Amino acid sequence: MDPEKLMKEARMAAENAYAPYSKFRVGAAVALSDGSVVRGVNVENRSFGLSNCAERSALFTAITSGRTDFEAIAIAGPDAWEPLPPCGACRQVISEFCKSETPIYYDDGKGGFISSSVEELYPANSLMDLSTQ
Ligand code: THU
Repeated sequence: MDPEKLMKEARMAAENAYAPYSKFRVGAAVALSDGSVVRGVNVENRSFGLSNCAERSALFTAITSGRTDFEAIAIAGPDAWEPLPPCGACRQVISEFCKSETPIYYDDGKGGFISSSVEELYPANSLMDLSTQ
């Protein structure tokens, strides 16, 4: 899928973010092998530690429908003033389901995006790449 298009999906998703505490809306979009897209948003809670990131929401939503054929992930934060790569917890979750070479596109905080990959953001995971088993 065209990275620009996937980033646009993520940006649109962010409109549905539930972020009353941080006021930091994040949207994510995962592209599946048939070209379909599943969106996710960050969902916060008054007990802050329970907040769920947008990319995990998108992955979990797809998995709920039995889909794990992830081809790419995009993360957008319309309120971001700096690059928005996935947090450590999300990198771990992403590594459970995505191949090392799976592209990850994330907001650069300036209206564009940065192209990365699971391998780049979570190095050494290829040693135990569950997604290829
Ligand atoms: N957040 C995401 O949803 N994805 C990221 O990649 C970084 C952070 C959310 C979590 C929290 O709701 C808010 O952004 C502020 O950290």
